[in-house]
Amino acid sequence: MAPQDRIAQVSSHLNYPQGLLAGQVAIITGAGQGVGAEAARLFANEGAKVIVADLDAQKAEGVVKAINDAAPGRAIAVVGDVTDPAYPKKVVEKAAEFGNGKIHIIVNNAGYTWDGVIHKMSDKQWNTMLAVHATAPFRLVQAAAPYFRVKDGVQRVVVNISSTSGIHGNPGQANYAAGKAAMVGLSKTIAKEWGPQFGVRANTIAFGFVQTRLTAAKEAGAFITTPEGEKIALGIPTGQLSKKSGDGEKEQYPDIPLRRPASPTEAARSILGVVSPLFSYVNGQTIMVTGGRNM
Ligand SMILES: NC(=O)c1ccc[n+]([C@@H]2O[C@H](COP(=O)([O-])OP(=O)(O)OC[C@H]3O[C@@H](n4cnc5c(N)ncnc54)[C@H](O)[C@@H]3O)[C@@H](O)[C@H]2O)c1
Repeated sequence: MAPQDRIAQVSSHLNYPQGLLAGQVAIITGAGQGVGAEAARLFANEGAKVIVADLDAQKAEGVVKAINDAAPGRAIAVVGDVTDPAYPKKVVEKAAEFGNGKIHIIVNNAGYTWDGVIHKMSDKQWNTMLAVHATAPFRLVQAAAPYFRVKDGVQRVVVNISSTSGIHGNPGQANYAAGKAAMVGLSKTIAKEWGPQFGVRANTIAFGFVQTRLTAAKEAGAFITTPEGEKIALGIPTGQLSKKSGDGEKEQYPDIPLRRPASPTEAARSILGVVSPLFSYVNGQTIMVTGGRNM
């Protein structure tokens, strides 16, 4: 590690000797890889106990191992599909057990795309995206209600991970956009229902372009398997990707003022920021983490 990086690391420890999230218990869905996995690492590094909730057992266990190797006892995996109606209850039970009866943070991050133009979109495509992005986050928050509707003076936070598609719409993503838009209303309603008596904050983060398998070349062959066993290809066709990046043109990523996508770590840092006490008065907001795209 370069000396200046080490100094930065040590000085953050001096500011917050126990970490920004010391003593907090956080559920992060979709934490087996990508943005969710980075958030799990960052949260644990700031003193939180983390529940890595993901349908990919191998990846979830890998994230947990990496966290616990650095700081033993900081993470557990709870493997399952967020669209399984029994899963939210299981996650909450395991989290409460791991957190000695407390849960402070939920990050509804699990998600993927299943694109199709409106006139060709199947009911299955539509319903699956609403199940993953709207129904599953609602069910998890509902299952965790007994741990959030408490008056112990400790901060509790929900963050729903949305997308620019949910705010601005995107051709080929009516289903994903509708699911991601639903999160905005869900966050604001949680803020209004659980803020006054319990001090719970709820915000939405809408990402633009983050470099994960969701935005890698479709030709790389990544896929997700639905509970019915259907394989859904992930990624963006190379032709569309080079349009986004402006390959061969003077300007890279011409529609992003910062002229670059976010790394998963950079995206996850915004989640850490929102759940941290530094954001204690930010509530019911939709925070655009886009490098300035779509202003
Ligand atoms: N990558 C981007 O540019 C971008 C942009 C806007 C929004 N987002 C959103 O950010 C979130 C994280 O995406 P990412 O880019 O890190 O993707 P990713 O594919 O790298 O990671 C997503 C994780 O969620 C898990 N997951 C997906 N569906 C699940 C389900 N039904 N049950 C349990 N786990 C499930 C996957 O196994 C995977 O580990 C998603 O909600 C995505 O829609 C991403």
